[in-house]
Amino acid sequence: MNGFWVVLSLFLLLSETPNAITGSVDQAAMAALQIELGVTFWTPNVSDYCSWTGVSCNSDQSVEKLKLSGQQLTGNISSISLLKSLKFLDLSSNYLNGQIPSALGFLSDLEFLDLSGNKFTNSVPPELGNLRSLRSLNLSNNLLNGGIPSELSSLNQLESLNLNQNRLTGEIPEDLRGLEKLQELQLSGNGLEGQIPSWVGNLTNLKLFLAYENKLTGKIPENFGLFSELRILNLHSNHLEGPIPASILSSGKLEVLILTLNQLNGSLPEAVENCKGLSNLRIGNNKLVGSIPSGIGNLTSLTYFEADSNYFSGSINPEFAKCSNLTLLNLASNGFTGTLPPELGNLLNLQELIVSGNSLIGDIPKAIFKCKNLSKLDLSSNRFNGTIPKELCDMSRLQYLLLDQNSLRGEIPSEIGNCVRLLELQMGSNYFTGEIPPEIGRIKNLQIALNLSFNHLHGPIPPDLGRLDKLVMLDFSNNQLSGSIPSELKGMVSLIYVNFSNNQLSGQIPSSKPFQKSPVSSFAGNKGLCGEPMTSCSGTLSHESNNHRGYYKKVLVVIGSALTVFITVTVVVLLFMLREKQEMVAAASLASESGISTSPLIIAGNVFIESLKQAVDFESAVKATLKESNKLSSGTFSTVYKVIMPSGLVLSARRLKSMDKTVTHQQSKMIRELERMAKLCHDNLMRPVGFVIYDDAALLLHHYWPNGTLAQLLHNNVESGFELDWPRRLSIAIGAGEGLAFLHHVAIIHLDISSGNILLDGNFNPLIGEIEISKLLDPSRGTASISAVAGSFGYIPPEYAYTMQVTAPGNVYSFGVVLLEILTSRLPVDEAFGEGMDLVKWVHNASSRGETPEQILDSRLSTVSFSWRKQMLGVLKIALVCTDSTPAKRPKMKKVVEMLHEVKQN
Ligand SMILES: *[C@@H]1O[C@H](CO)[C@@H](O)[C@H](O)[C@H]1NC(C)=O
Ligand SMILES: *[C@@H]1O[C@H](CO)[C@@H](O)[C@H](O)[C@H]1NC(C)=O
Ligand SMILES: *[C@@H]1O[C@H](CO)[C@@H](O)[C@H](O)[C@H]1NC(C)=O
Ligand SMILES: *[C@@H]1O[C@H](CO)[C@@H](O)[C@H](O)[C@H]1NC(C)=O
Ligand SMILES: *[C@@H]1O[C@H](CO)[C@@H](O)[C@H](O)[C@H]1NC(C)=O
Ligand SMILES: *[C@@H]1O[C@H](CO)[C@@H](O)[C@H](O)[C@H]1NC(C)=O
Ligand SMILES: *[C@@H]1O[C@H](CO)[C@@H](O)[C@H](O)[C@H]1NC(C)=O
Ligand SMILES: *[C@@H]1O[C@H](CO)[C@@H](O)[C@H](O)[C@H]1NC(C)=O
Repeated sequence: MNGFWVVLSLFLLLSETPNAITGSVDQAAMAALQIELGVTFWTPNVSDYCSWTGVSCNSDQSVEKLKLSGQQLTGNISSISLLKSLKFLDLSSNYLNGQIPSALGFLSDLEFLDLSGNKFTNSVPPELGNLRSLRSLNLSNNLLNGGIPSELSSLNQLESLNLNQNRLTGEIPEDLRGLEKLQELQLSGNGLEGQIPSWVGNLTNLKLFLAYENKLTGKIPENFGLFSELRILNLHSNHLEGPIPASILSSGKLEVLILTLNQLNGSLPEAVENCKGLSNLRIGNNKLVGSIPSGIGNLTSLTYFEADSNYFSGSINPEFAKCSNLTLLNLASNGFTGTLPPELGNLLNLQELIVSGNSLIGDIPKAIFKCKNLSKLDLSSNRFNGTIPKELCDMSRLQYLLLDQNSLRGEIPSEIGNCVRLLELQMGSNYFTGEIPPEIGRIKNLQIALNLSFNHLHGPIPPDLGRLDKLVMLDFSNNQLSGSIPSELKGMVSLIYVNFSNNQLSGQIPSSKPFQKSPVSSFAGNKGLCGEPMTSCSGTLSHESNNHRGYYKKVLVVIGSALTVFITVTVVVLLFMLREKQEMVAAASLASESGISTSPLIIAGNVFIESLKQAVDFESAVKATLKESNKLSSGTFSTVYKVIMPSGLVLSARRLKSMDKTVTHQQSKMIRELERMAKLCHDNLMRPVGFVIYDDAALLLHHYWPNGTLAQLLHNNVESGFELDWPRRLSIAIGAGEGLAFLHHVAIIHLDISSGNILLDGNFNPLIGEIEISKLLDPSRGTASISAVAGSFGYIPPEYAYTMQVTAPGNVYSFGVVLLEILTSRLPVDEAFGEGMDLVKWVHNASSRGETPEQILDSRLSTVSFSWRKQMLGVLKIALVCTDSTPAKRPKMKKVVEMLHEVKQN
């Protein structure tokens, strides 16, 4: 049908006499286009095409302008090339795919071409070089590969070229030097190599040059900024070396300069003082040396200054104090010496002052506390050797006070209790004396950490601290604290990590879960603490012999040392997640205080399933996740909420916990991955229905499955009153195996295979969940690499402990654990297995204990019939090879599925 119309329209075109009015040609082309693109909002009467939405014609009824952005268009756009009078073509943000038709090169009048945000593949057609009138070309956010064609050099009217976020490779072609009218050149997020050509510096009209996130090498050309009016230059995340050319700064027009994450050396040129309009200067993670030029004070517009992780030295320039709009000053991890200039107290807009990891000495100047808007003060890892002034908490917005690893002395002032917004208080490894002020108990918001370890604090632990019910990490170790641990500390119900070791504490450890679950080492080295996890207070064992007996009883250690690594990792991840969450909550509360509406700022969103588009409301989805009562479950990487749309549609919404700040930069990549996931068609994979990106978080929308997870069915079956019979269990195992095998087939390794991530639809058909996570958490970014190895307890293959890398054989191991759960109805980790045992070890060691299969298999099933028992023994064999401790001995998922099918058929 479509082919017919295209042929027909071509026929009409060819049968026109040369003098025929172009109108009828455009009508034929528009007719073809209407059918090809399936544009439903165009009226059926083709002769009306000039009044169609998004279409503008000239007086001759020729289409001049076609603006069809964001209309979910798919199909073949070749017939557009018949619209000879077209000047403006915007097809951005659709689902167009395949090659960009080279026939577009026939549109000789075209001035504006925007095909961004589609799924175009293959290379950029060289024929686009024929568009001699083109002033703006935007092909960003596609899947284009190959090099930038040198034919584009003929576009001598071009003012804006945007090829951001594709897969382009090769060098930036020399031939493009003729594009003299270019004002904007955007090449970021590709795989471009080689040097930045010096012709870019010769473009006299250039105002914006973005080439960040490529593989560019060599120096930044010396002529940059000499001839042009460059305002925005962003080259972060490349392999650039050599100095920052002074020329960039000498024109004084620069507003944004971002060179983070390169290997630039030399110093920050004095010429920076010319840039009166510079608001954003980010040069962190390079190899820059020297001092910050004093002319920095001339940059009155400066808002962000980030120069961390370089080799800068000298003292911190007091001239910064003149940059009255400065919001962020990050000088961490350099070689700065001297004292913190009190002048910085004039920076009333400053929100973050980060100078950790330098060699600063002296007092914390009181003047700093005039920075009323400061929310983060990070002075850690320096040599500050004064005392803490009691005015510290005049900065009422302070959320992060990080003073650890210094030589601070004196007492911790009781006024610390006035910092009521603090989320994290780090004071470890200093020389603080005196007692712990009970006022710390007033900081109800404190949740990330309270760390006073490695000081000289003495006296009792104040019972008031029991009010800190949100606190996750408490470290009082290595002080001279005495008395008992007050029983009021049972109120600290959120604790995950506690450490009271190496003090002079005595008496009974309060009986609360966080304490009892801690290892003995958390309480070791005291005068005499007793009660769990140490020896019992009435026990016959002497206090000194508080060896590891109690410890080994504990669940956490049963699994052996490999897992302890992961427990630490998980704590780190948890802390990170909490911090993220807190920042959001804090931001929300700030917003509500200042009277701003708290409704979330939705940055992007999409629904992949056409039929659900009307039924999904993004804002309702986000709001539902703010209600605790909607929470369904919490996994390693995300929390799942039930969301009822105003339309009545019920969905589940998975909120990603460890989205880092890069999410806004990585957005388009993320969206592309999600869309790719949405297309992964397999009955046993849970595909996303849609997504919402808001603030710094992402929400993935899925269908809601009321039957819950395999874990819930296997382990809470008393509650649900439903027992999975063997045939159903076997078909769940096969389905889940097929889903995982398919993932491996398309080269996706799952980060967290567990029975908790296998959902069951209305027919108990299994669906593997959390597949997107493996794509959305980019392991090359700090936080994700930690989470990426975490997984769920009991499912983590032993080799992850030292490889710290997720693999397909690792997935097979975790799947083997799921099989064992299905066979035994037992949890992967359970105290009942005994010392040092998890489900895998317990099953593997069964024969050496002289146990029969009945003692392993769930006897409620294996004794029902001979054939069930036979099948279960067959699956047990498969589970044993899957959980082999040598990764190479585990079968491929495809093979596992074949073996499961064999068991079912025999
Ligand atoms: C289509 O529109 C044209 C002009 O607007 C009109 O003359 C013609 O009758 C319409 N045809 C139909 C089938 O409605
Ligand atoms: C689109 O249509 C044109 C003209 O009929 C044809 O030559 C071309 O191959 C088609 N392209 C695709 C991707 O189908
Ligand atoms: C593509 O680039 C042009 C020129 O810079 C711009 O006007 C247009 O908004 C861009 N398109 C999108 C979808 O951002
Ligand atoms: C850039 O301009 C300078 C001076 O006008 C000239 O000497 C140099 O050859 C030009 N470089 C390129 C690559 O065009
Ligand atoms: C900067 O690095 C380059 C090589 O990358 C080296 O040749 C040069 O000497 C370095 N300059 C300084 C000032 O360290
Ligand atoms: C920078 O400021 C100082 C004094 O504040 C002034 O003497 C100097 O001329 C300024 N530099 C520029 C380039 O404006
Ligand atoms: C400081 O910021 C404010 C608000 O953004 C702005 O109006 C003002 O112009 C800025 N000051 C300077 C010197 O740039
Ligand atoms: C801090 O250290 C500096 C340099 O070591 C020293 O001169 C100064 O007296 C010290 N201040 C205090 C209060 O100890």
